Amino acid sequence: MPWMARWPGGFPLYVKHAAGAHLVDVDDHAYVDLCLGDTGAMGGHSPPAVVHAVQSQLGRGITMMLPTEDSMRAAEELARRFRVDHWQFTLSATDANRCALRLARQITGRKKILVFSYCYHGTVDEAFAVRDSHGQTRPREGNVGSAVDPATTTRAIEFNDVMQLEHALADESIACVLAEPAMTNMGIVLPIAGYHDALRTISRRHGTLLIIDETHTFSMGAGGCTQAWGLDPDIVTIGKSIGGGIPSGALGMNARVVRDLSLQQGVDYEDTGGVGGTLAGNAISAAAMCATLEQVLTAEAFDRMIPLASELHRSIQRLIESHQLPWNVVQLGCRVEYGFRPKPAQNGTEAHASADRELESYLHLYLLNRGVLITPFHNMVLMSPTTTLDDVTLHDRLLTTAIDELMAAV
Ligand SMILES: Cc1ncc(COP(=O)(O)O)c(C=O)c1O
Repeated sequence: MPWMARWPGGFPLYVKHAAGAHLVDVDDHAYVDLCLGDTGAMGGHSPPAVVHAVQSQLGRGITMMLPTEDSMRAAEELARRFRVDHWQFTLSATDANRCALRLARQITGRKKILVFSYCYHGTVDEAFAVRDSHGQTRPREGNVGSAVDPATTTRAIEFNDVMQLEHALADESIACVLAEPAMTNMGIVLPIAGYHDALRTISRRHGTLLIIDETHTFSMGAGGCTQAWGLDPDIVTIGKSIGGGIPSGALGMNARVVRDLSLQQGVDYEDTGGVGGTLAGNAISAAAMCATLEQVLTAEAFDRMIPLASELHRSIQRLIESHQLPWNVVQLGCRVEYGFRPKPAQNGTEAHASADRELESYLHLYLLNRGVLITPFHNMVLMSPTTTLDDVTLHDRLLTTAIDELMAAV
């Protein structure tokens, strides 16, 4: 996998075992894990409730192409949290996004979608697009083997720019906006005040559906940003951590989307509709989602995780000030990221321009060699329900010495 190749030091760690917020490599080095599988293990590694639920389901059927009681419970819990009532399962967040795009195109009869420059929604062809400095949509660098130029499927604009949004939706050719509520693929880009209201109002005015991808922004709390910020999406997509690490994804639709789908004439949702997958919603995923949502990533767990992230945020802010670093630090619930520009970026292009691979590699390797693992790309530090203040303090102490040593050397 590309991200394995990207670990600093030239090769990935090979893991012997992982539990909670810690892992041990095959050479018996122990690490505090603040990467947590890039959020897949936000509930901690092998949370006992998930292990138990999966183990007990394993002997009772793995994949039957039929729902279980757990499927209903997981869907009900997702509906309670994310403000859309009708849920369908997939095996990954990527699949959830692919399905959501198809459904949005079907309902609206429009072919194109809108994304934000430097977004990431999984390996979704339509989303590998950026807006260039002339306002044109072009393929994002590194887009391998694409069948068509993304400009034929997609319009890309900058996040947080209401004028661009209005302009991009005005001709009413866009089926849906696929958006993370805060961008997370290049560090965290928070929405400016009023942006989500504008996004909802303008998209609705132009008959464009709003798909909110909460896969990473679930860090904001039990109901992601949708609940925390009172968003009103037509479709919510999510994956990764909702199954405690067992492959799981889901898309939730509001009543209007479901009604509009049912009104479509002559549409075959049951066979080759391009939505679904044989193993989607299998009994193991359903058991894992149920256990994760009901017992691991609960509102109470976020009540412990978020203050820890706030502590980390404060500590990095102090470090930035005391060392006069031209950096910023941003928090999104139980997730914190530091970035190499004085002020937080307001869109993906700004965030992308501030990346510094050499500095990142130095910091990541410094931390790794001293027992702290953070994501291999940008500087994401994530809390799980089992992360402790000691874990956070170790990260902060090491980051400080890494910077002290670097400043002494230059
Ligand atoms: C916002 C967002 N959506 C979807 C995905 C895709 O997740 P997966 O690769 O598990 O399908 C990712 C992956 O990083 C993501 O960041």
